[in-house]
Amino acid sequence: METAEAASNLSGKHIVLGVTGGIAAYKAVEVVSRLKKLGAHVHVIMTRGAQNFVTELTFREMSDEPVITDMWAKVTHYHVEHIALAKLADVVLVAPATANFLAKAACGMADDMLTTTVLATKAPIFVAPAMNTAMYENAMTQENLERLRAHGFHVIEPASGQLACGTSGSGRLPEPVELVSVLEQFFDSGAQGADASVRQKRDLVGRKVLVTAGGTHEPLDPVRYLGNRSTGKMGFAVAEAAAQRGADVVLVAGPVGLATPVGVRRVDVLTAQEMHDAVLREYADTDAVIKAAAVADYRPKERAGQKIKKKDGSLFLELVRNPDILKELGEKKQQQVLVGFAAETERVLEYAAGKLKKKNLDFIVANDVSRKDAGFSADTNCVTILGRDGTHTEHPLMSKRALADIILDRVAGALSQGRA
Ligand code: PMT
Repeated sequence: METAEAASNLSGKHIVLGVTGGIAAYKAVEVVSRLKKLGAHVHVIMTRGAQNFVTELTFREMSDEPVITDMWAKVTHYHVEHIALAKLADVVLVAPATANFLAKAACGMADDMLTTTVLATKAPIFVAPAMNTAMYENAMTQENLERLRAHGFHVIEPASGQLACGTSGSGRLPEPVELVSVLEQFFDSGAQGADASVRQKRDLVGRKVLVTAGGTHEPLDPVRYLGNRSTGKMGFAVAEAAAQRGADVVLVAGPVGLATPVGVRRVDVLTAQEMHDAVLREYADTDAVIKAAAVADYRPKERAGQKIKKKDGSLFLELVRNPDILKELGEKKQQQVLVGFAAETERVLEYAAGKLKKKNLDFIVANDVSRKDAGFSADTNCVTILGRDGTHTEHPLMSKRALADIILDRVAGALSQGRA
């Protein structure tokens, strides 16, 4: 029987784990252990600083591979010492990444084995900064991170909480399970492409993108609600893709069971009214809105304080209109590029075109939700994108993550033409 570990998309991957000199270096040991359990080959490179916190022996035992600690030591295990790991890597993860390492990497320095490998590799590179809050928030560290992002590095945002230095704030290394999950999500998303040497597009750096996802719940009483079949997959895929392209992403999510994509700020809501309020709070300085959520058009007029008891005969519900969030955004539109979705079961393009106009949108993504492999809950979608300039572009069945990038290509194009 296939085990959960064997089924991981990290199985067989060569992961170069750079460990730098921070107190969180001990967490890297568990990262190795988890990656090994998932079937990955883990090659650890330790900086001199890291060796003050954890021994080379620990990583060697855990990874079952030689550990590189010195660029000048005689290397017997790899064919071309300085760049062998750079070539072998399917992905490079530096965790923890100190402010010093980030500064060196941002300048393209190569004065030890880790920085040399980072400079030489064509594999995707993830860095997980971990340091004291003041160091993390220092403008120079933030500039270095921005520069790394601009060069296609993936920055795993630090967590907030109690730090080793006794203070509390941002700068804590995320838990090993989260770091591993970031790599799994990355390989799941297909963002690495067929050729790992193709770096992620970074065309949304400096842009604020607001995405809505999932359905809404409109309560009838404390235990019942009116809802719909949206799982949030489409919107979460767009949020993930936008973050990977460098945008500052706010994801307003209805009640769904999905993990927040890396680097995304998530605001959870339940009802259409709550989604309306959350979206409007974020709207003024937003560059683009992608409304993949399936919002309830109506809600029960009354919300019973106690569970409604059954009685003989029929029960009549009176429904009242919810705000049309996207229409309101269209009315208040300034610099924003607006993208709506239309979920239709018949006359798909005709109805979608009507919504494009009525809601003053730049694009509408029309999906025929009568198909099983498109629209609600499927991992795939098949759509036509209608532009306000009258263009109709058909897109064949593909993963929602791949479609997300196509939608963002249109958004990035509109933004670069000065629509924001
Ligand atoms: O979440 P998944 O399971 O992945 O499914 C994806 C999806 C099918 C939900 C998604 O692809 C999709 O089509 N979302 C829009 C569904 C929908 O409700 O369409 P609509 O035709 O009712 O609304 C048109 C647009 O107006 C949508 O962008 C919607 O977010 C917005 N709207 C609708 C009603 C309302 N009161 N306020 C709104 O903002």
